[in-house]
Amino acid sequence: MTAANTFPSGPLWAVLLAAGSGTRIAAALAGAAAPRKQYLDLDGAPLFWKSARTLSRVQAVRGLVLVFPPEDVSGMAEQVTRLDAALPLGLPWRVCAGGARRQDSVRLGLAALPAGGPEACRAVLVHDAARPFVSAALVRRVVEALGPGSPAAIPGLAVTDTIKAVDHNNVVVETLDRATLRAVQTPQGFLLAPLSAAHARAQAEGWEVTDDAGLMERAGHPVAVVPGEEQNVKITTPADLALLQPQQTAAPRTGWGYDVHRYLAPGETSAKVLAQARPMMLGGIAIPGAPQVIAHSDGDVLLHALTDALLGIACAGDIGRLFPDTDANFANMPSAVFVTEALRRLRSAGYRPVHADLTVVAQVPKLGPHKQRMAAQIAQLLELPAGAVNVKATTEEGLGFTGEKRGIKAVAVVTAMPG
Ligand code: CTP
Ligand code: MG
Repeated sequence: MTAANTFPSGPLWAVLLAAGSGTRIAAALAGAAAPRKQYLDLDGAPLFWKSARTLSRVQAVRGLVLVFPPEDVSGMAEQVTRLDAALPLGLPWRVCAGGARRQDSVRLGLAALPAGGPEACRAVLVHDAARPFVSAALVRRVVEALGPGSPAAIPGLAVTDTIKAVDHNNVVVETLDRATLRAVQTPQGFLLAPLSAAHARAQAEGWEVTDDAGLMERAGHPVAVVPGEEQNVKITTPADLALLQPQQTAAPRTGWGYDVHRYLAPGETSAKVLAQARPMMLGGIAIPGAPQVIAHSDGDVLLHALTDALLGIACAGDIGRLFPDTDANFANMPSAVFVTEALRRLRSAGYRPVHADLTVVAQVPKLGPHKQRMAAQIAQLLELPAGAVNVKATTEEGLGFTGEKRGIKAVAVVTAMPG
C-alpha cells in the first residue's frame, strides 16, 4: 500500500446519500408506483449501488454508510445485504435513515459513522447516489487533496456558459466573472471533526446550504477544488434518464486465428497421407512450385487462420467445430467457403470487418512475390478495400518445424466494428 492511497492519519469512510425523494424526475416516471430515482435500474442493480461499488474500489475508503428515506431503511438493509452477497463490496457498511433536507441526511449519515474519534474515523467523503458515473480516479483525487491544513476538498468544473445573477423578477442583477466560477460535484471530502462541528452549528443556527462545502465555508474553513469530471453528472431531470439506458456496445472486436499444416515429406509412402497431399493454396491463390500440403480441405493455412479470426469475432467457436475434417463434404473444399460462412456469422452477430492483418510463417516457399495478390484476394473475400488487408511473411530462422521445412503456419488478426 502506498501513501497515495492510504488516508494519512486514520480511517476514511464514505457517506452515500440516497434519501431524497427525486421529485424533479418523478413526473417522467410511470406514476406513484415508480421507484425513486436512487433505485432506478442501472446495469442490473439499483442506481445507488453503482457509486457504492466505485467508492469501494478506492483503497483509502474503509467503510460505507448508506442513507435512505426512513421508510425504506429496513428494506434497503436487506437489499444491500443481497447485493453485497452477490458481489461483495469488501468493506464494512451500514444503513441509516436520512432527513427532510439533503443537509439533514448528511448530518444523520455522519452520526452513523463508527464512534471512537479519529482512530475510528478521521475523514469522510459525502457522495450523492444520484451521481452514479463518478470514477474511482476522481474519488482518489479528492482523498489525496485532504489532510492537515486542508480540511475540505471538492471536485469542480470550469463553467462554459456565461452565468448571470437575477432578481425575483428574472432581471439580471449581475454578470459573474466566469473565470472565477466552478460547478461543483460530489464526492466532497472532509476531515470529520470540522465537518461534524459545522453541521452542529448549521443545526443550531439554522444555516441552509446545498452542499457540505457550503457549511465549511461558512464555518471559516478553506475548501480546495480539484478537477471534476464531465461524466460525473447528477441524475436530476427527466432528460437525464436517457443516461441510464443500457449503452449500445460501440466497442470494436478483435478476432485472432492460428493454423498449421504439415508438408508432404520427401519419400512419404503412406497411401493415406498421399491421398491428402494438395498443391499449395495460400490466401486463396495457388503457389506454384511450393511443397505439397497435407490437409482434408484444400489446405489453405492462411484462410483457415482467417476463418478462425472471423469466428472469434462472432464468438462462434472455431473452424474445427463448424467444418469437421471427419465430414466428407469438406474434402478438398476451397477454403474460401469457410471464410464466407465465417463472415456470414460475423455479420449476423452484428459486426462488420474493417481490417485484417495476416502473417504466414514458412521457410519455403518464398512468399514475397505473392503477398500482394494474397492480400487482394483476401480483401475481395472480406469485401474490404485493398488497403484494409495486410499480408506479411516471415521465416523462423531455420528453427522448429517451419525452419526445417516440414510445414507452414499462419496467424490472422481481424478487427470488426458493430453495425
Ligand atoms: N438526498 C438525500 N436526502 C434528502 C435530499 C437529497 O439523501 N433529503 C440525496 C439524494 O438522494 C441524491 C442527492 O442527495 O442522491 C442529491 O440530491 P438531489 O439530486 O436533489 O435528489 P432528490 O432530492 O432526490 O431530487 P429532487 O430534488 O428532484 O427531489
Ligand atoms: Mg433535492
